[in-house]
Amino acid sequence: MNHLSDVSLLGASPWWRPNPGTCLVIQGGRPLVGTYGVSGAKNAVLPLMVSALLTPRPVVLDNVPAILDVAVLSNLLQRLGADLTWSTGRTGRALTVCAERIHPRQIDRDLVARMRASVLLLGALLARCGEASLPLPGGDAIGLRGIDFHIAGLRAMGAEVEVNGGLIHATAPYGLCGAEIVLPQPSVGATENLLLAAVLAKGQTIIRNAAREPEITDLAQCLTMMGAAITGIGSDVLIIQGGRELAGADYTVMPDRIELGTIACAAAVTDGEVLLRHAHAELLGTARPAFAAAGVVLEDVRDGVIARRSPAGLTGIDIQTRPYPGFATDLQSPAMAMLATAAGASAITETIFEQRFRHVDELRKMGADITVLGTTAHVRGVDRLAGARVMATDVRAAAALVLAGLGAKGDTVLDGLDHLDRGYDGMAEKLVACGAVITRDKIG
Ligand code: UD1
Repeated sequence: MNHLSDVSLLGASPWWRPNPGTCLVIQGGRPLVGTYGVSGAKNAVLPLMVSALLTPRPVVLDNVPAILDVAVLSNLLQRLGADLTWSTGRTGRALTVCAERIHPRQIDRDLVARMRASVLLLGALLARCGEASLPLPGGDAIGLRGIDFHIAGLRAMGAEVEVNGGLIHATAPYGLCGAEIVLPQPSVGATENLLLAAVLAKGQTIIRNAAREPEITDLAQCLTMMGAAITGIGSDVLIIQGGRELAGADYTVMPDRIELGTIACAAAVTDGEVLLRHAHAELLGTARPAFAAAGVVLEDVRDGVIARRSPAGLTGIDIQTRPYPGFATDLQSPAMAMLATAAGASAITETIFEQRFRHVDELRKMGADITVLGTTAHVRGVDRLAGARVMATDVRAAAALVLAGLGAKGDTVLDGLDHLDRGYDGMAEKLVACGAVITRDKIG
């Protein structure tokens, strides 16, 4: 993140604390014991922030995580003309977005390149203003991540979309119209983009083979609170009666199930016991029984989940990533870091993204025994990982390497902290409160 961008990020998100040129030093081998507050979900808050563009009335979001992606999107919304106000909410940090007037001018390439979720602006701006211009979005370096489903769906709703020289230009001169759309695969982003567009489009939209991730349910519930008519929420067929004028809303962002799963694995790896507050284990979908089979005990209590290692220890399991409620691809790398020291072998198959094994080389530097054959990583558990200097290559790989470092013998130095900051609110500080020894150091 360059200096100029940091200045504009701070303008939109005064809480943002850039950490240029720093790395994390994790002293491994301490059991995590204590209470860890699970933050609002990154993957829920981003579409929720975009939903505020659909109405001139204020939308208040509570439990907003203090992460880089939120700072970037805040800046993008501000550049589009929205007013942003930060305050202390009931559950955490609250953000009020008031998009009374919007100028759908071309959005800053540098900011969009940092975050794939910026593609959601397309559906919302088209629906609200009838036009949108956006550089092709960036995000994690984890594969092709096309946006063809988004574009095909918007075209079916009457939009004219051109992609030229790395720029998407979309117009809907006569407004968007409801349509029946069948997604070729249940894409999270495409479902959200089309949902955002459909609530203002004239008539009925049906999205078939929709993704069912809980973050989509969060978005649909907030839109309903704003006055949208959506049925089938939580299923793979969403039916939207569009065209209603939307009001504001006051909505609390759901807890981050990926942070929950990651820290639960960390508690098990370090043989500690952590109360993960504000979350419940059901959010994990089929990752819950998979973790149980691997020896991660999860006990739902009144205000959260207690995570610990089973007395029998950790055992290898086979995992295939799948759309929700299947095993989340975002938990694949943390699970691999945990299984690297489980007894026996694990086969981890990635079916969602084609380049999501970039953490494997880093885990190998720490002594993990992992072989990748096609889309499957074969993990043979070793007794213990050893601290090493490693590099985060995407947001989930960053968390996986923190986890690996917590369980390892000696010091792990983690570079590429922008990736951790993109998705996790104060993860290092919250781990330190549970007994981890983690410091920030200058790179050099
Ligand atoms: C979202 C999540 C990300 C998670 C992923 C899968 C956010 C901000 N990010 O990403 O953390 O890992 O879901 O659970 O919520 N695809 C196409 N064409 C399209 C759209 C998708 O080919 O137009 C493909 C992608 O390349 C990928 C698969 O579909 O192989 C799933 O992608 P998708 O569900 O859209 O992921 P994102 O919404 O980008």
